Amino acid sequence: MCGIISYCGKREAIPILMDGLKKLEYRGYDSAGFAVVENGNNVVVKTVGKVSNLEAKRAGLQINSSFGIAHTRWATHGKPSEVNSHPHTDCHNKISVVHNGIIENYLEIKEELIKKNHTFKSETDTEIIAHLIEDNFSGDLEVAVLKSVKRLVGTFGLAILHADIDHQIIIVKRGSPIIIGIGEDEYFAASDSNAISAYTNRMIYLSDDEMAVLNSNSYYIKDMRNQILDKQIEILEEEIFKEDKKGYEHYMLKEIYEQPESIENAFRGRLIEGEGVSKLGGLEPVIDRLKNIKKFIIVSCGTSYYAGLLGRYIFETLTELNVETELASEFRYRRLHLDENVAVLALSQSGETADTLAAIKEAKRKGALLLGIVNMVGSAIAQITDAGVYNHAGPEIGVASTKIYTSQLVILTLIALLIGRYQSVSFIEGSEIINAIRKLPSQVSEILKNTEQIEEIALKYSKYRDFLYIGRLFNYPTALEGALKLKEISYIHAEGYAAGEMKHGPISLIDQNFPTVAIAPNDLTLDKMISNIQEIKARDGKIISVTNADAHRIIEMSDDAFTVPRTIDILQPILNIIPLQLFAYYIARNRGCDIDKPRNLAKSVTVE
Ligand code: AGP
Ligand code: GLU
Repeated sequence: MCGIISYCGKREAIPILMDGLKKLEYRGYDSAGFAVVENGNNVVVKTVGKVSNLEAKRAGLQINSSFGIAHTRWATHGKPSEVNSHPHTDCHNKISVVHNGIIENYLEIKEELIKKNHTFKSETDTEIIAHLIEDNFSGDLEVAVLKSVKRLVGTFGLAILHADIDHQIIIVKRGSPIIIGIGEDEYFAASDSNAISAYTNRMIYLSDDEMAVLNSNSYYIKDMRNQILDKQIEILEEEIFKEDKKGYEHYMLKEIYEQPESIENAFRGRLIEGEGVSKLGGLEPVIDRLKNIKKFIIVSCGTSYYAGLLGRYIFETLTELNVETELASEFRYRRLHLDENVAVLALSQSGETADTLAAIKEAKRKGALLLGIVNMVGSAIAQITDAGVYNHAGPEIGVASTKIYTSQLVILTLIALLIGRYQSVSFIEGSEIINAIRKLPSQVSEILKNTEQIEEIALKYSKYRDFLYIGRLFNYPTALEGALKLKEISYIHAEGYAAGEMKHGPISLIDQNFPTVAIAPNDLTLDKMISNIQEIKARDGKIISVTNADAHRIIEMSDDAFTVPRTIDILQPILNIIPLQLFAYYIARNRGCDIDKPRNLAKSVTVE
């Protein structure tokens, strides 16, 4: 959601800005634009739609500049249109501003500025920032920005320039992600490191209410009291982002196929066979506290929330902890009893999701131990948590999360095993879990060999309008996640339900046009799943099942069946979700949908 990239140095700025925007595209956006200063003039170019439209527009222009700011917008205030896209400027087209976030008190400030004769062009909340800075400007941009941001209520990552001030870009952060890249006499700022890691691996992670001033051969960081801060430069060790689908038609398909490797990366070096336990370096500093925790709360959104739901079942199986899973967007408003005896674990691919971030800030205020499972190194959630575990899964570009979901499930199991071994999990039980984890990559590879069958079945079901997904216990979250995959990329209505709940409502929907995907492995829930499938068949509903080869009754009852290898019950959902990711992918492909960038969705949801 929204991408910011800025450059201040000696090279041509526009190619760097355009390259950065392309690398930020995966975050989700509806329009794009940039502002550069050429011979003291603020040149602003913007378009609706793809970055390629902006590229086409600027190709016709001769502009030379070595500093500028650029943005991909995901509209919150005002529809996607050229005039609403960023950068926004002041009345005299001197100041340009790009913004990620929401300014909650923009109407009040706008009215005030209108009374002072400022003229507004757009419907956005962002535009007030350019006018407010103009109002406060008397020669020093830093002073004007500091004064202005003190008035703002809400969240913002900002990049700002003034046409009269050569080679100066001001970056401010509160709530929204923005990092600084330090080059040799050149400086970058971006929403995430993907956009600038081709130019530098030296990053400064700004905290909230910090401001960076970038010039052509120097920079400094300040707080809101105008005090210079001595911030550490961190070396980014992640592999440089490559815009490369490695021959796959979509990033989503590539990422589905990467799962044997991403699952292996989630447990590599983290299993101690001889002791039947896991070893998580990132949690070592808090292990004593963790052993004595009374309550464990997992907070997350979307697919990460479904991983959290399953996490609760895994923790309940392996530990004595009292575990809850909460939607971050609800958790933050509830009156919860949190204290130092509670651990709050945030699950997030991006490490930037605004609701998850707000939820853990709330937990921090109340003294809880903050933990994270995060993929993006150095992201806001990774920074704010007391301890955590990285996925090390590489960038996930497809908006629909696939490889991070399975990676999160592996890491949740490792954490539960770590805690469980201090409680009642025996060495033998721990060793069985370790053996099962080790087998996962080859079992996932086996499923991926059967893609043709999944593609054929997907073709058969591409025209249906509605689907029900059902599962029990460990596979109830699989039903929710399977349905989410289908709806987000194919725009087909799909509902995930706990199989036992079906008779309490959704069964009324079932007829020959409403197929059900039943996740029914050969585990202790098998007989109950068989009954649910019978109930659907009695009402002419079609059944597509995900099951194991030895669950003959399920296979016989199903119109179509995906069989996956068997593993222990807590890990079976990792294998069960793979055919469902592919099923959703091939249906969306048959329907000609924009799979990697589904309409209205963003990869990083950085507004509330
Ligand atoms: C997943 O397919 C979705 N696009 C979405 O639900 C996502 O999982 C959610 O926004 C949470 O993101 P995060 O893991 O980056 O916090
Ligand atoms: N609220 C701003 C707008 O609607 C910024 C949105 C974004 O973060 O892209 O223009």
